[in-house]
Parts: sequence; C-alpha cells; structure tokens
Amino acid sequence: MDEVLEGLDLNPGDTIVDGTINGGGHAVAIAAQLGLSGHLIGIDQDHYGLEVSKGRLANVEPRIDLVHDNTRNLDRILDDLEIDLVDGILLDLGWSSNQFETPERGFSFRHEGPLLMTLSDDPTKAAFTAHEIVNQWSEESLVDILVGYGEERFAKRIAKTIVEVREQHPIETTTQLADLIASAIPNRFRKKGIHPATQTFQAIRIAANDEMGALKDILKKGFERLAPGGRMVVISFHSVEDRIVKQAFRGHQESGRAEVLTKRPITAGDTELAENPRARSAKLRILRKL
Ligand SMILES: C[S@@+](CC[C@H](N)C(=O)[O-])C[C@H]1O[C@@H](n2cnc3c(N)ncnc32)[C@H](O)[C@@H]1O
Repeated sequence: MDEVLEGLDLNPGDTIVDGTINGGGHAVAIAAQLGLSGHLIGIDQDHYGLEVSKGRLANVEPRIDLVHDNTRNLDRILDDLEIDLVDGILLDLGWSSNQFETPERGFSFRHEGPLLMTLSDDPTKAAFTAHEIVNQWSEESLVDILVGYGEERFAKRIAKTIVEVREQHPIETTTQLADLIASAIPNRFRKKGIHPATQTFQAIRIAANDEMGALKDILKKGFERLAPGGRMVVISFHSVEDRIVKQAFRGHQESGRAEVLTKRPITAGDTELAENPRARSAKLRILRKL
C-alpha cells in the first residue's frame, strides 16, 4: 500500500483511475488524499467487488465514478465521463479470492462447477469460456497456452489426455478436468501442497479472458490518457504479465516520452509477507510520463 500511494505521487485535486478497484482497499486510501476537488474513477469487470467499493467510498471527499467494465475499454470509459487526461492509473492485476471461491464461476479445481472461468460476471457476455477451450481447441493450441501462460512442465501429456478424454465424451465440469489433469502427471512429479491442476487452470483462465491482450490494451491506452507528469503503477502476480508490463514501460521510455522509476520491480517486504503470503509473487513497477 505505501509503495502504491508513493508511486502514484498523489496531490489534492488529482484525477486517478483505479483500473482494478475490486473491494476498494487501495481506492479508499487513494480517495483520502484527493480532497474535495479530486476525482477517482474505479473500474472492475466484476460487479461484486464494485458493490463493496460503493459502500466503502460512500462518504469520501472526492468525486467517485464506479464503472462496471473491462479496463481495456479505458478510452470509451473516459470519453463517456468527459475526461481527457488523468494524473494517475493504478492496476493491481489478478483476481480476488472470492472470485475463485465461488464454485458456480468455474475457477476452482476443488469444487464442482461448470467449465466457465470467465471473469465477466455474466458468462453469456463472454466471448468464449473454458468449456470451448477444453473441448474444441486443438492439441497444439492447448500445449501453447499451458506452456505460455501456465509454465506447465507436463503440457504435452495434459493436452494429449484432454483430447483423448473428450473424444469419448465432452468435459463438462471443473472437477472432471482437474481429475484428468492429475491423471496425466506422474505421481512422483507432484509438488507437495500444490494441486496438479493449478497451472493448467491458471493458463485456461488467462486464455478464456484474453488477460494478456487486455493488459497490453490498458498499458497502451492508459499511457495515452496520462497527463504529463502522470504516473502509472502496476502490480502483477505472474511472470508473463510482469514481462508485458516491463516491455511496455521500456518502450515508452525508449520513445523519450516516459521515465521508468523502478529499475527493478518492487517486491513485498517481510512484514507484508507475514500478513499476506499471496504477496509472494507480486511485482510493482512505476512509470512517469514526461
Ligand atoms: C487483486 S484485485 C484488486 C484489489 C484492489 N486493488 C483492492 O485493494 O481491493 C483485482 C481486480 O481486478 C479486476 N480486473 C482484473 N483485470 C481486469 C480488467 N482487464 N478489467 C477490469 N477489471 C479487471 C478483477 O475483477 C479483480 O476484482
């Protein structure tokens, strides 16, 4: 939190976008520094988190606009609000645990649920779901995402097993998928305490939501809508995500339009790790537009 607030270099009267507002943990602390003339725009494609934020931000000083959308549509969102440039953008990527723990949304390999995994809370609006990826994508495409987004060592075996099983019958549920992934990984290679389906589920979720495409869009559009001197602060939890952030920031710096303020990503300190073990893989990068 301290690094995020410092990274955004907040001043009273600023207009700040929290592009992943969820329950508003960061947003409440940001709002407290913006004063009556400030403006906070909170975006999330998940409405449960937005509802929580709405309650928590009900009595703060700055103007608050909460938008239920994918932040990759930042251009349209700011146009609709008649905002040209903003002073800061925060992205705290990834997902909140309540999203993963709701079985009906199909993210969890521990609970029986439909193969959805769409982060949009209305699956009918999703371009496609995990069901389509698992039952229709070619074996090669499955291997590609398992390697690229899951860094799964047994990608080939898992993809082959998925294809063999779906030739017999469609794969319909999360636990069906988790069990067949487990059957593809030899016992002696299983990591203690980590479910063998962890990386495959992560890879399918990233593909189903085009998370990397969305991130690239946000980094590009966000930079264009940043005022001179404005900051972009991004926290990522996945090496592929972090690479995309690092490359985008470097590209902006090489174009002479920005300065990267973090030569190396900031990681969580011991105290934070003791309180929140999930911060283990978090990397924070900061960019300032010139
Ligand atoms: C880790 S949580 C953010 C927590 C928040 N910073 C807080 O302090 O409470 C990440 C949130 O980002 C949202 N999210 C991730 N990618 C998104 C995108 N492309 N568009 C909109 N929301 C997104 C998820 O729905 C989730 O609610």
